[in-house]
Amino acid sequence: MDAERPYDLVLFGATGFTGALTAEYLARHAPAGCRWALAGRDRAKLEALRTRLASLDPGCAGLPLLAADAADPVSLREVAAAARVVVSTVGPYLQHGEPLVAACADAGTDYLDLTGEPEFVDRMYLLHHRRAVETGARLVHSCGFDSVPHDLGVLFTLERMRERGALPDGATVSVRGFVRAGGTFSGGTFASALTVMSRRGAAARAARARRAADPGPADRRISVTAGPVRRSAEARAWAVPLPTIDPLVVARSAAARPDYGRAFRYGHYAAVRRLPVLLAGGAGLALLALAAQLPALRRTLTRLRKPGAGPTAEQRADSWFTVRFVGESGAGRRLFTEVSGGDPGYTETAKMLAESALSLAFDELPASAGQVTPAVAMGTALIDRLTAAGLSFTVLDAPPAAAPSRG
Ligand SMILES: NC(=O)c1ccc[n+]([C@@H]2O[C@H](COP(=O)([O-])OP(=O)(O)OC[C@H]3O[C@@H](n4cnc5c(N)ncnc54)[C@H](OP(=O)(O)O)[C@@H]3O)[C@@H](O)[C@H]2O)c1
Repeated sequence: MDAERPYDLVLFGATGFTGALTAEYLARHAPAGCRWALAGRDRAKLEALRTRLASLDPGCAGLPLLAADAADPVSLREVAAAARVVVSTVGPYLQHGEPLVAACADAGTDYLDLTGEPEFVDRMYLLHHRRAVETGARLVHSCGFDSVPHDLGVLFTLERMRERGALPDGATVSVRGFVRAGGTFSGGTFASALTVMSRRGAAARAARARRAADPGPADRRISVTAGPVRRSAEARAWAVPLPTIDPLVVARSAAARPDYGRAFRYGHYAAVRRLPVLLAGGAGLALLALAAQLPALRRTLTRLRKPGAGPTAEQRADSWFTVRFVGESGAGRRLFTEVSGGDPGYTETAKMLAESALSLAFDELPASAGQVTPAVAMGTALIDRLTAAGLSFTVLDAPPAAAPSRG
């Protein structure tokens, strides 16, 4: 990577809700000597943000501000050419994301984002993976709550199983992840979720085209399992299959990493303790998905949560998540682990995104290029960073106790 470029790291979308939290995290935690800059389309907003950052770290008063608009590919090419790593929080990514991925793939610039939109990731693979492999750019999507705790939690589980001799060479491995979280969401997240819900046909077509172009390893079996909603003794809760981007990311990590075993299976679930919560949540989501199909209703819903708005500091301080994993490799060989932290959607997401960017910029990492997952691009280096930054990755000695009572 070109150390002569003016910036180690550029944050695009810094004026948005999650972008500003990411900028604040970098102001507090970027190492001395890190050359970083803010990029966005609104100079006045960028200046106001820089003033706020300077109150956290006076050194930020001189942060460079770069003018860039998602609708102006020339400005994005300038940003990509000036940076070693570009981080984007400009979403919905299906709407705004492609030109920056194109610019980074072309310039050999590492790129990270927060997308939870599977269609976007599939389309970026089809359009830009090959070029990124040629230039050496690492395109790492989903570096927030989607999908870092899940992707790295599986990696952590398998590594601890291997240390304990519970992962013999050639073993068939199965991991189940049970997610619990309490918190609320921003305008940007709501708009992105509605976009995903409104494009199921297009997403299925992109997924099919991607499978044809990227069939996975011929000599290993990688699968994602779902099944019906069921009562789970492991989770001590109702296990509701979660068709988010997370299991897809885990499966891609497994496909790229032979150390996940000859045959690897992953199941991803929401763990819901109480039946009324399960029924009310299911009904609410079904209604939202239905409403998202109607453009007029979708526009009205989008106005309920404005871009730039999100949970207050108090709401975020009260938010939390846990993901419990059960790793299994043959009779009786089971290991329980857990990844947990505070506010999943924003405080911890900003941490995960910023640490991912710092890892790409400064850590000694295994060689990779093209579209790669967090576990492939950063792997254990990112687990170490996030642990040092306060997220918890732990082995549970016994089967998980009853889930915490809140939420
Ligand atoms: N998966 C996860 O774990 C996770 C968690 C959090 C967020 N996210 C995703 O992150 C994205 C951002 O969420 P958010 O709540 O932070 O959204 P937001 O507050 O609405 O911020 C969006 C940002 O994009 C910028 N933007 C919009 N159009 C632009 C354009 N044409 N050119 C340049 N910049 C443009 C906005 O700039 P202005 O300030 O100038 O309007 C703003 O900085 C969403 O897609 C959301 O789903 C994902």
